[in-house]
Amino acid sequence: MVVSLNEPLDMHLHLRDAGMLDIVAPLSAETFSGALVMPNLVPPVTTKEALLSYRKRILDAVGESTFMPYMTLFFKSDYSAGFLEAVKDDILAIKLYPAGITTNSEGGVSGFDLKELAPVLDAMSGLGIPLCVHGETGGFVMDREAEFIPIYEKLAKNFPDLKIIMEHITTKEAVEALKRFENLYATITLHHLYITLDDVAGGLLQPHLFCKPIAKRPEDREALLDAALKADPKVMFGSDSAPHPKDAKEAPGCAAGVFTAPIALQALVQLFEKHDALDRLQSFVSDNAKRIYGINPPEKRVILENSPYLVPDIYEGTVVPMFAGRTLEWRVVSAG
Ligand code: DOR
Ligand code: ZN
Repeated sequence: MVVSLNEPLDMHLHLRDAGMLDIVAPLSAETFSGALVMPNLVPPVTTKEALLSYRKRILDAVGESTFMPYMTLFFKSDYSAGFLEAVKDDILAIKLYPAGITTNSEGGVSGFDLKELAPVLDAMSGLGIPLCVHGETGGFVMDREAEFIPIYEKLAKNFPDLKIIMEHITTKEAVEALKRFENLYATITLHHLYITLDDVAGGLLQPHLFCKPIAKRPEDREALLDAALKADPKVMFGSDSAPHPKDAKEAPGCAAGVFTAPIALQALVQLFEKHDALDRLQSFVSDNAKRIYGINPPEKRVILENSPYLVPDIYEGTVVPMFAGRTLEWRVVSAG
């Protein structure tokens, strides 16, 4: 049996920089036609120069493959309308992080005072720049996303013309919130469709499955699965593939992030097949994102076949993927 996907898109991807970028960018470019690239570098991407030079480094790392890096800026409440106008053609979205909530987010937003955020959000709204949000409060780790929902609602209500993407949702509360506001959308990762907190910490601790937001309860995963498998028109695939060196994961103070990019399509096909939903996968991994963002990514057809695929233990001796050393049921046979 064979599955064919056109222009697969990863609408939430961490590509990092330097040596790690050189390892992971070609892996994404092998099977994805494009990706929305997160700006949480050190320092974060906040200027036009940083944006354009990062984009060039990504394209250099990708080499000959067809791959469109859709760029994001790191949200700052002091961006001027003139600056946003000047960068709007170089970005697809702006990513807002609450200060200190995850990897390299120290320069993010504290307090969510709408008066402080309004000038930038109004300008983005007028220019048609979507807002991507890491929606977690600083509360108890299992409750952080649910506690953030009122902030999403406040943003959605006060900026009705702003497209707001709830990134990497993990709870049934977030799936419910999508239904209440026309201008709310969401990305869903691969790992949150597969795992719950039990897989991370229910037995021996699994550092390679530790991420932010942390995987939640079975009923939350069910709600995410329901939205993804029916390819709800307001959700899209965003892997949140977040590579860290092996020694930063297998350490006290384990870094947050699951590295899924090179195995994402294989594992998605396996999941959608298991749930008899293969006819919805094209919408979930591409068509919904094309429509929500209004993009036309470069043509790429990826063919997968139903035969065993042994996931590598590690890439370039540096970064360990999800399902390392395990066999998936689908392999990529061609992409181009
Ligand atoms: O687990 C995560 N890792 N969550 C994020 O929000 C950021 C990411 C990273 O950059 O490592
Ligand atoms: Zn992320």
